[in-house]
Amino acid sequence: NTYDFGLIGLGVMGRNFILNVADNQFTSMGYDLDQEKVNALIEEGKDTNKVNATSDIKEFVNSLSQPRKIMLLVPAGKIVDTVIESLLPHLDKNDLIIDGGNSFFTDTDRREAYLQEKGIHFFGSGVSGGAKGARRGPSIMPGGNKEAYKEVQPIFEAVAAKFKGEPCVAYLGPKSAGNYVKMVHNGIEYGLMQLTSEIYDLLKKAGKLTNDELHETFASWNKGRLQSFLVEITAEIFQKQDDKTDGRLVDQILDKAKQKGTGKWTSQNAMDLGIPVPSIDVAVSMREISALKEERVAAEDLYGRPTPEAIDKKALIKMAEEALYFAFINTYAQGLHQLAFASKEYGYELDLAVIAKIWRAGCIIRAELLEDISNAYAADKDLVNLLVAPNFVTEVKATLGGTRDVVAYAAKNGIPLPALSNSLTYFDAYTSGRLPLNLIQAQRDHFGSHTYERTDMEGIFHTEWED
Ligand code: 6PG
Repeated sequence: NTYDFGLIGLGVMGRNFILNVADNQFTSMGYDLDQEKVNALIEEGKDTNKVNATSDIKEFVNSLSQPRKIMLLVPAGKIVDTVIESLLPHLDKNDLIIDGGNSFFTDTDRREAYLQEKGIHFFGSGVSGGAKGARRGPSIMPGGNKEAYKEVQPIFEAVAAKFKGEPCVAYLGPKSAGNYVKMVHNGIEYGLMQLTSEIYDLLKKAGKLTNDELHETFASWNKGRLQSFLVEITAEIFQKQDDKTDGRLVDQILDKAKQKGTGKWTSQNAMDLGIPVPSIDVAVSMREISALKEERVAAEDLYGRPTPEAIDKKALIKMAEEALYFAFINTYAQGLHQLAFASKEYGYELDLAVIAKIWRAGCIIRAELLEDISNAYAADKDLVNLLVAPNFVTEVKATLGGTRDVVAYAAKNGIPLPALSNSLTYFDAYTSGRLPLNLIQAQRDHFGSHTYERTDMEGIFHTEWED
């Protein structure tokens, strides 16, 4: 028996991905060290006649048709290297290994170079959409050798989510392009999640919205320009009853958010590249502040919290919608700006219109807005920033009033909206022809003779500032 596709790591993502492959008429072989997971998959897939699994690596590799297409859905880190080493003795030239996890992009570059020497193709390929996405259609972001990609393309196009019939997968570029794009996808994901949580806080504290009203508000927004997976699940969350008390589950969840690192990596790498992504940076900082629960509780005892002044609920909901839409646009703009710059720096040759297209379905940041984003980059592939795309200028202008009202109200009433206000600050700074950083240059030259340039003549200048 020869199988079309091999998958290593039969956790929930791996199992679901294989069943998805089977739904699309390809046969697959799963591999996991854990015999129970192997048995569970054989049982789950038995009606399809297209799925098998083993905990014997040699049997696994030998059962695959050549060139072999082997996908890894294992946690990022050392385990990826361990799995690669265990595969190597059994592989042949031109086989493909596809890492579907959230591996750090420089690890992918290292692994690709290492395997290239052995004639094996290595693909860092982001997979987004969680367990449901893996089962019903994820968004897939592969990078690596373009020719070799053709071997796996039919399987990926079949299993990927479809947006109006178009598969949400595309070859993105050489080397670690796939992992890099997935990393920035996750940075944007952190930003959008932080923004929705801020708006929830505002509506709850300022507008005193009940969970039912929050549900209705987010559900109605999800029918408009804010339509997106994260807004949709947010609406659902407010309705979920707690099975341990008679309240809603959301109110019982501890306010400490965990993280596995991809948001932080996006911010760190943006700093390395010198590209500002403040809405993403602060989303990472807020997960860190959230973790300081005990300190926060103690500090609240010292300072108290202001009681927000009354505000008309309808007006509040309207301005909140504008602010959220404005901040969503700014967050995508920052992430895409980072991708455009990284593309040049690392030689990825990314097509941002294509990336926005494959994010339209399947992934966590899927949103109606991505259609317009894709069109903006299709119209101008050298677009420097989404904020200056002609089809966005009018839209952004129309949301500014509500955004400024929200940020001003929140600042006055002590409601922390850091991602929202960072989005507004990013916008205000990016659209300021002159910033006060001339003063910073003067200070640098004053205390350290660091020199400055002038607005009115060419050259490098230094002044003796003290008489
Ligand atoms: C996806 C997600 C996924 C990520 C989770 C958790 O696109 O399906 O980005 O890959 O692992 O969102 O990330 P954190 O634990 O860092 O929040």
